[in-house]
Amino acid sequence: MTTRVPIVVGNWKLHKTVSESVATTDALVDLLPKRGRAEIAVAPVFTALMGVAAQLKGSRVALGAQDLHWEAKGAFTGEVGPLQLVDVGCAFVIIGHSERREYFAETDERVARKVRSALDHGLKPIVCVGESLQTREAGDAEPHVVAQVDAALQSVQPADLASLVIAYEPIWAIGTGRTASPTDAEQMHAAVRAQVQRSHGVPAGEGLRILYGGSVKPENAGELMLQPNIDGALVGGASLDAASFAAIVAAAD
Ligand code: PGA
Repeated sequence: MTTRVPIVVGNWKLHKTVSESVATTDALVDLLPKRGRAEIAVAPVFTALMGVAAQLKGSRVALGAQDLHWEAKGAFTGEVGPLQLVDVGCAFVIIGHSERREYFAETDERVARKVRSALDHGLKPIVCVGESLQTREAGDAEPHVVAQVDAALQSVQPADLASLVIAYEPIWAIGTGRTASPTDAEQMHAAVRAQVQRSHGVPAGEGLRILYGGSVKPENAGELMLQPNIDGALVGGASLDAASFAAIVAAAD
């Protein structure tokens, strides 16, 4: 069995100014043990990327962005592309978060293009998938999530999966304080892995890291990450506070 390195990512969403982002970063770097088993990243707003990058230098925390445009350059007013993210020091980029799918017309097709573009420019995509409460109650959660994964990975080669992460985030658990039970989450993660093994081969699927997201807190992180197919967490609200994010990292370490 492959041993997957756990990864914990903080998604700061539309929170914090540059100075607030830098202050949180400083506090986080101070609190974290210098070394540990888990990989760590934080994803501030675009305008704070450069300031946060400077504070992260020499630390074990990598930088991530919350989105990108698939084109590298051109007449795309308002967009930020892969070259800019690499330039500012990003290693990761979150793609297809449910908030983007819901409020910003992100489709499976756009997600797939963004994933390909990120990989082509040396960025590691964190691809978000997840079902609504309505879909879960209708008993369709698994086929829905598996279809999102298939769509996102359609132009991804097996070798690319070493630098890609999937985040399963049930929409009804995001920012609601309601977490999927470790058993339910594990069941979905196992289904996603089985599907990727079918589409991209057993070794690539076995090595793929699948994060859980949705109201992850220091109190529930340990139990979730103990599940065999849960390889870390994508953390929203609890990542805004350095101490609570550090406690989640400690569970992953
Ligand atoms: P939450 O957000 O931890 O605040 O539920 C998770 C996410 O949306 O990535």
